Amino acid sequence: MSAARRLVVGNWKMHGSHPANAELLAGILGARPFGCDVAVCVPFPYLSETAVSLAASDLRWGAQDCSAHAQGAYTGEVSAAMLAEFGCRYAIVGHSERRALHGESDQGVADKAKAALGSGVTPIVCVGETREQREAGETAAVVKRQLSAVIHTLAHCVSEMVVAYEPVWAIGTGLSATPQQAQEVHELLRAQLQAASGHASRIRILYGGSVKPDNAAVLFSQPDIDGALVGGASLKAADFVAICRAAG
Ligand code: PGA
Repeated sequence: MSAARRLVVGNWKMHGSHPANAELLAGILGARPFGCDVAVCVPFPYLSETAVSLAASDLRWGAQDCSAHAQGAYTGEVSAAMLAEFGCRYAIVGHSERRALHGESDQGVADKAKAALGSGVTPIVCVGETREQREAGETAAVVKRQLSAVIHTLAHCVSEMVVAYEPVWAIGTGLSATPQQAQEVHELLRAQLQAASGHASRIRILYGGSVKPDNAAVLFSQPDIDGALVGGASLKAADFVAICRAAG
């Protein structure tokens, strides 16, 4: 069970353009105030304009990845310190698309989370099982293994991260986990975090995977769901705002 204020994060993925971003951010800004924390994680090139648009507001922004390295010969990568220079509050790490398409390992994800925290950027660590793993009854083992690497690497800083449970089969499919399915996994993750940190109620565990205005409220009514990581629905201001309103 968590006592933390809810958090709704938009994951724009590889979407956007100057005019589309301006319209989307204006739509979100115009709908304030929200009763929850709200952030958008945007493609790297748009961090600067997002920072300018949101600087005077209580909305936060972040990136969708960061390097595990501080600096050096890593062509194409972006360090957490660079994200901090752009005012990023958050960096998503270990999204299933990066695990699947870029071969990111559990330990690699944990190293990214550590690098983010080291620069004052809060990592949003994604975990989640594939459909095959769920059908094989491996959900608990998979998410525990993914989280365990991060817990061991972050050690005493564990409670400073955000966790996002995103079942891979629910991402971008329109097929959300049921509130009960999500709660079951969130409860497991909370217990694992409690054993590691002693104060898991402070750690926000977001649900992600086809969150929409019409399923947000019932997901948020679950005791261990502290918010959402929203993909597709974060690209339409009206939908994203409706999800934020459902959160608080
Ligand atoms: P979705 O994506 O909301 O489009 O399912 C969620 C995510 O990948 O973070």
